[in-house]
Amino acid sequence: MLMLPLLAVAGNVKSPNGNIELKFSVDEAGRPTYEMTYKNRAVVLPSHLGLELAADKHASPNLQEPNLIEDFRIVDEKISEFDETWRPVWGETATIRNHYNELAATLQQTTNEPKYMGHGNEPGLALIPHTRTIIIRFRVYDDGIGLRYEFPQQEELNYFLIREEHTEFAMAGDHMAWWLPGDYDTQEQETQQSKLSEIRSRMQEAVNWGNSSVAVFSPTGVQTSLQMKSQDGLYINIHEAACADYATMHLELVDAQTKALTTKLGGTSNAYTPNPAACSAPLPKPFTFVSHLTPDATGLKGCMQTPCTTPWRTVMVSDDARDMLSSNLILNLNEPCALEDVSWIHPTKYCGVWWEMIVGKSSWNYTDEFPSIKLDQIDWQKVKPNGRHAANNAKVKRYIDFAAKNGLDEVLVEGWNVGWEDWANLWKRDVFDFQTAYPDFDIKMLNDYAHSKGVKLLMHHETSSSTQNYERHMEKAFQLMNKYGYDAVKTGYVGDIIPRGDHHYSQSMNNHYLYVVKEAAKHHIMVNAHEATRPTGLCRTYPNLVGNESARGTEYEAFGGSRPDHTCILPFTRLQGGPMDYTPGIFVTKLKEWSNNTSWARITIAGSLALYLTMYSPLQMAADLPEHYERFDDAFQFIRDVACDWDESIYLEAEPADYITVARKAKGTPNWFIGGKCDENGHQSVIKLDFLDKGRKYDCTVYADAPGAHYETNPQAYTITKRTVKKGDTLKLTEAPGGGFAVSLIAR
Ligand code: NOJ
Ligand code: CA
Repeated sequence: MLMLPLLAVAGNVKSPNGNIELKFSVDEAGRPTYEMTYKNRAVVLPSHLGLELAADKHASPNLQEPNLIEDFRIVDEKISEFDETWRPVWGETATIRNHYNELAATLQQTTNEPKYMGHGNEPGLALIPHTRTIIIRFRVYDDGIGLRYEFPQQEELNYFLIREEHTEFAMAGDHMAWWLPGDYDTQEQETQQSKLSEIRSRMQEAVNWGNSSVAVFSPTGVQTSLQMKSQDGLYINIHEAACADYATMHLELVDAQTKALTTKLGGTSNAYTPNPAACSAPLPKPFTFVSHLTPDATGLKGCMQTPCTTPWRTVMVSDDARDMLSSNLILNLNEPCALEDVSWIHPTKYCGVWWEMIVGKSSWNYTDEFPSIKLDQIDWQKVKPNGRHAANNAKVKRYIDFAAKNGLDEVLVEGWNVGWEDWANLWKRDVFDFQTAYPDFDIKMLNDYAHSKGVKLLMHHETSSSTQNYERHMEKAFQLMNKYGYDAVKTGYVGDIIPRGDHHYSQSMNNHYLYVVKEAAKHHIMVNAHEATRPTGLCRTYPNLVGNESARGTEYEAFGGSRPDHTCILPFTRLQGGPMDYTPGIFVTKLKEWSNNTSWARITIAGSLALYLTMYSPLQMAADLPEHYERFDDAFQFIRDVACDWDESIYLEAEPADYITVARKAKGTPNWFIGGKCDENGHQSVIKLDFLDKGRKYDCTVYADAPGAHYETNPQAYTITKRTVKKGDTLKLTEAPGGGFAVSLIAR
């Protein structure tokens, strides 16, 4: 580790290799302002920073707390360098270098704050001068920047409420963007690809879909991580890192029409009450994104107590798309591991009693007898089974046998616990107890059976977003897991949040998700949270957070399907903050072959194999049914072989929404695996094997789309070829439309 003071022009700081330059200043109105260039090309034009605060209703009902937006002056600037290499508990590489130059600007703001001075029957207002201090910290890396606000503890800024954060990101042009509509409750949409200027006209189409919880907030609101590409070939990504005790950030685009709606900065939240009093400054220029936080049930966006900080706001940039994928900027901006003992955290390959329920062939619930159930009023031994309950002893044993035979570590079982009869979107508080198994699921016998075969069961806690119910039962639920030997839980947050009015990505919900992760760690339990907020690299600090869904997963292939380019976008967007439990591996893509579901997965079998490489995760599911894998056992060999923890990763080719090719070296071995995934147009890959060890021979198995393969018309056509290769050899591979390839290179 190295901490050096650097000599530099105050307010300007360059990245270690000099490619990125960050300039910071305070304008005439005292507004903090930054700009960013990459190889002398504008990435972020001068953009303002600030926070709009809310009245503290409790202390002074009618008073507007002065905003942290203008009237600042710089009182100190510190520039330093940091260079450290750390080892993640699991990851794409064995070591990660965290090398940046930092600028910490201390700013002071003096305002006249109205205060009630009277007492008794003689209230009176007085203007009292107040001085408040904040720090804006920038970290400038070779592949991007992070910036955050820090609030030291002080008399004049002790507790405060955030009405909105106004961090601007002024883009230098009408970039191409891969965006999801901003939404306080879901991030499971298909990605839109359009120019920034087209976001508003595309919004209606983008929000016209179905999900169990939706809260769109603005005609130009989009989510992060937002991937863009400028007309002259710069890849720019905006996201956030270390979002803890704070609301998730969206971005609201100021475009040519925004002016017509409102003329003041506070009004950019154009679906919610504009607040022209926020600031006298004019609106930013078109193509500027302004941060938009997720509110809680009160409509406010943050409840802060100093000392505290915001999450990091990140802008990644490169002229090479592969750098977007190999960047560790988000992880680096998170705190080091907070857990002392991490020996119990491990990469996991799993299968599960899951896909057949998603597809609709069997059910989570045990009975169809009642219009609704109250958990404490049912004698489960006496109820009439519906005959479709999947989590039954015989079936779970079948999955355990399959996992044991194929070297899979764990078996997820959903629908094991009572409550699934009326679980979703009913505002039902006491929806699950996470303790009581259905009568046909013998929890002790099944765990014993699994352990006798070297396999573990993977717990499932669907909370139905009834968060207080989950928090009330959690300790006992984790104790139950410890008792039977579960070491991982998949949680879920389907439906609107209970307590009502709160949103999935608010500060209070983000606190809930992290609370679950921390409590789980005390019990040596790994967490894979579905429908929780999109990750921001917190898995560095809490590496038992091994997965999140937080995007459109494979389940949507059973709900109408996802576009073939979907998985060529996710690594640029959703995966920036951490791994996704995408649940790949569908081999029988036409679901009507085995169910009444007419939906189908837009992918070839070879493409499905590629996802184990291109969608990095330490937790990988083989999602299809055992009998389907048995039909294609030669292709399944790749899933048996592939690692999910790596010493090295090299992105060989990448273009958002078109193709991604990556080679990875399995942790602690000399073996390499390569995956290539493409969109609906197909792709030709030429791979030079110059990363292999010199002088070594490798048994190379190539799983490729067969000639004529196609995600729609011929998805199961693949070839498997074997040969011996060495460093310097070349592989030429053809990816079919919606297809891909997978390669294993096992050292002799
Ligand atoms: C949605 C999750 O994404 C899915 O994997 C799960 O099976 C259902 N919720 C039920 O919990
Ligand atoms: Ca989901």
